[in-house]
Amino acid sequence: MPISIRAQFQAPPWAAEELVDRFFPDLGPGDRVLEPSCGAGGMLGAIPAAAEAIGVEIDPAMAAEARRRTGRPVICGDFAEVGLPWAPTAVFGNPPFEMGLVERWLARFAREMPEGGRCGLILPAYAVQTPDRVVHWTDSWSVESHHLPRTLFPGLQAPVIFAMFRKDRLGLLRGFALYRRASAVGAMGARGRLMLARDGATWRDVVAAAGTRPSCSPPSARRSARSRTCQGGCAPATGSCRPPSRRGMISTEPVPTRP
Ligand SMILES: C[S@@+](CC[C@H](N)C(=O)[O-])C[C@H]1O[C@@H](n2cnc3c(N)ncnc32)[C@H](O)[C@@H]1O
Repeated sequence: MPISIRAQFQAPPWAAEELVDRFFPDLGPGDRVLEPSCGAGGMLGAIPAAAEAIGVEIDPAMAAEARRRTGRPVICGDFAEVGLPWAPTAVFGNPPFEMGLVERWLARFAREMPEGGRCGLILPAYAVQTPDRVVHWTDSWSVESHHLPRTLFPGLQAPVIFAMFRKDRLGLLRGFALYRRASAVGAMGARGRLMLARDGATWRDVVAAAGTRPSCSPPSARRSARSRTCQGGCAPATGSCRPPSRRGMISTEPVPTRP
């Protein structure tokens, strides 16, 4: 796709500022912030001056414009190929809406960022609509998703979201329902799928037929307003079972903002 087409949906600076205020209110000395596809610098310019920041931009004219507007260093090149001077503690960006590219960039962030590092990305809503993809992300991240107004980018057809990723071992999901179970249903064998297709058959029936011990939150935890609720393949009736680990639980709490 020509750069001119990829470059057309720049985040308005007022929106970038509000996203920083809301999702990265604590950025300051000690933070190293990366904007991996900074365009003309609308989002890079919203990063507080107290935090170190760098942009990457593949289009030389855009990179020059971002340098001029923000006073920040901007590496001109393909983010997949450029080296960074440091490992970012935070990423803030609006990457091209190409999911292969987004997945490769997320994998790089997960490799290079420290535990507790945060990525806030404007993404098309379809990026978070495939359960297997979202569940896979929880191998490296806790993830939360927020709707953004479509009018942010006049002319863009795709609904957009702001996704916050926090690198941790918890794998929490916030703003997602049914993802783990939908992923589990998709992955199960023909017998289970046939059972679910039967009138009245439930996930509980499938688990019972498989003879597996369900994994779910104890009832007391499930009743708690701030509890984690199991979205895995469990039969929650017994209450005798324990979550095998914290990974895989859906949290009602926001992803913490500080590494
Ligand atoms: C949707 S625009 C967003 C620009 C900026 N983040 C903003 O919101 O103002 C995407 C930007 O990514 C740049 N870009 C596309 N592919 C890239 C790559 N492989 N590496 C770095 N930048 C890239 C484009 O030139 C474009 O400026």
